[in-house]
Amino acid sequence: MKKSISGFSKMSKRKKLRWIVENFFKDPETVARELMSFWHRNEDQQRIFDGFSENTISNYYLPYGVAPNFTINQQTYCIPMVIEESSVVAAAASAAKFWATRGGFKAKVISTKKVGQVHFSWEGDFTKLQAVFESLKERLLADVSLITKNMYSRGGGIYDIQLRDLTDQEENYYQIWANFETCDSMGANFINSVLEVFGSSLKDFVEHHPDFQGSEKEITIIMAILSNYTPECIVRTEVSCPISDLGVFPENMDATTFAHKFYKAVRIAHIDTNRATTHNKGIFNGIDAVALATANDFRAIEACGHTYAARDGQYRSLTNCSLENGVFKFWMDLPIALGTVGGLTKLHPIAKRSLELLGNPSAEELMMIIATAGLAQNFAALRSLVTTGIQKGHMKMHLMNILNHLEASQENIIAAKLYFTDRAVSFTAVREFLAQQDLKKERV
Ligand code: MEV
Repeated sequence: MKKSISGFSKMSKRKKLRWIVENFFKDPETVARELMSFWHRNEDQQRIFDGFSENTISNYYLPYGVAPNFTINQQTYCIPMVIEESSVVAAAASAAKFWATRGGFKAKVISTKKVGQVHFSWEGDFTKLQAVFESLKERLLADVSLITKNMYSRGGGIYDIQLRDLTDQEENYYQIWANFETCDSMGANFINSVLEVFGSSLKDFVEHHPDFQGSEKEITIIMAILSNYTPECIVRTEVSCPISDLGVFPENMDATTFAHKFYKAVRIAHIDTNRATTHNKGIFNGIDAVALATANDFRAIEACGHTYAARDGQYRSLTNCSLENGVFKFWMDLPIALGTVGGLTKLHPIAKRSLELLGNPSAEELMMIIATAGLAQNFAALRSLVTTGIQKGHMKMHLMNILNHLEASQENIIAAKLYFTDRAVSFTAVREFLAQQDLKKERV
């Protein structure tokens, strides 16, 4: 067994797979066959998938589901979701249906500003740098004109460059801070390309400027990179209705009791960090699933959302609820940077179909759709939590996973679904049930 290798990345895909199965698995032939069975049968498509990453030896499948009946700003959407957790899609669909008859979701993009920074060290008199900043800015903008030309023609570009002094927090530490509009693209490549040029231009500008002498001529560029924290690229989504229109809930819970318990559940997620984490995780069940289905960067979206949730120094709920003048209102402000052009959005064959399913939305429209999927998810989770608890619905879906895992026959699946209608589902209980079924069969 050899667990390390040099030159792996240069090997052909088949050779990589062979080396992996021979050195890490007990039954290389079976594992190789299994991994190869997930190769796309269309070689061109497979080449596209391989191009998304490196050292690929197979494809990893996740379920692609849809949550229909979402009414957002009076338009109906069928939202694609890629997620492996049972009950997330069902919960989204059920919340969508609930709100479709109560005015639907209302969403609006508040702003779309993105951020990038050049972090640098400099030993000099800051006022001197400030004094030449206007001409430095001109130079920076001129040096990136080839990169920005196309973005300006699409209505985007750089709309602000600032110089920031952070020496009170770290010796000799400064930033060039820039704000960007990247239209329908997420803009990471555009922003990072601009920032890297800013870094080298800044260095060169100071080195050759007559106002700087000796060590002042030397700037150390630490790094140039976009910030995934975009609190000014933000969307609001909300639902509201008279409390009396909320209807009746399981266990005969009336609308007023439901509204007050729901309100308290959101309050608790604002007060208690432990609860806030789970609460927001549920929101991201919806957000990530649509982000993945549309080939958006869910890691960037999550990182931004969690930072925003902690913006006042404590990690809190991303959603809010109010009960005023007999009206139930539930909403979320979500900073989210995403794209409907560029990246994998049109390259990934299914992401392309997801966007088509959504009516080929602009980035702003997709911000509203994704935030709404998150709000719907949170509504569904809290609705279950404050009424029946989540396990009832969850375990019903989980039952199928357990049955599949135990390779139950179709006959036993039907019997198990019936048997577990009003019984607690657990791995052991299901295994015992299947053993009993087998015993019964033997006796016949
Ligand atoms: C499970 O994936 C998500 C929930 O735990 C979210 C929540 O508790 O609000 C149900």
